[in-house]
Amino acid sequence: MTCVVIGATGGIGAALADALERSGRPPARLGRRTDPPLDLRDEASIAAAAASLGDGLHLVIDATGFLHGEGFAPEKTLRQLDPAHMALGFAINAIGPALLMKHFLPRLARTERAVFATLSARVGSITDNRLGGWYTYRAAKAALNQFVRTASIELARTHPCAICVALHPGTVATPLSAPFAKAGLDVATPAHAAERLLAVIDALTPDQSGLLIDQRGEEIPF
Ligand SMILES: NC(=O)c1ccc[n+]([C@@H]2O[C@H](COP(=O)([O-])OP(=O)(O)OC[C@H]3O[C@@H](n4cnc5c(N)ncnc54)[C@H](OP(=O)(O)O)[C@@H]3O)[C@@H](O)[C@H]2O)c1
Repeated sequence: MTCVVIGATGGIGAALADALERSGRPPARLGRRTDPPLDLRDEASIAAAAASLGDGLHLVIDATGFLHGEGFAPEKTLRQLDPAHMALGFAINAIGPALLMKHFLPRLARTERAVFATLSARVGSITDNRLGGWYTYRAAKAALNQFVRTASIELARTHPCAICVALHPGTVATPLSAPFAKAGLDVATPAHAAERLLAVIDALTPDQSGLLIDQRGEEIPF
């Protein structure tokens, strides 16, 4: 079984790669600091990394993402919208993963079960948005969900056994969530989050392709 974790240096990505290893499915680990390097803002690096793995992939997990950093924090109000922040958020949370789909989906196994799973977020659900705020992150994850749905339809034509989904990992203790941790919030360790995400991934069926699914395996409405 050929597995890949992209964003394998991140909190959830590293834990997912370790969990796959423990389950006897050691993955290729890709990220900005791996060999070959994969930077979401450099399509050539994505194409080269995908080509280095060849065809017949059974599981590709994208655990990359951006919420804060490089001087940017999630917006609380429209007044804080900054085009540079928005461009970065869309580059990492939507355009980059779409390019991963462009280069990795054609390399999924064609005649066996194969899964491409990208980590999205519940806050990307438009239906679920009751609190507001976090404009760029929410909108970029909503765009990611649409990329997943659209790609899943195209994928089904050539890969009938393949599944392309967006997953919400739950709240997980990582550098991404650390500044927003609140007392009373149900926060999982990366190791626990990885185990439950793998259980969800392993139970997915082709009729769930194109959906946004949470850490319990339940569909989140777009
Ligand atoms: N943690 C949570 O509570 C939570 C909740 C909902 C959804 N999520 C989603 O889960 C995913 C993983 O989050 P996390 O909590 O594990 O965050 P994290 O620890 O900050 O990891 C983020 C990952 O994204 C990678 N990355 C960022 N920019 C990149 C680029 N230009 N090219 C390639 N890789 C890049 C980072 O690589 P480097 O190591 O090179 O920086 C790192 O591997 C994200 O999509 C996030 O939105 C997390």
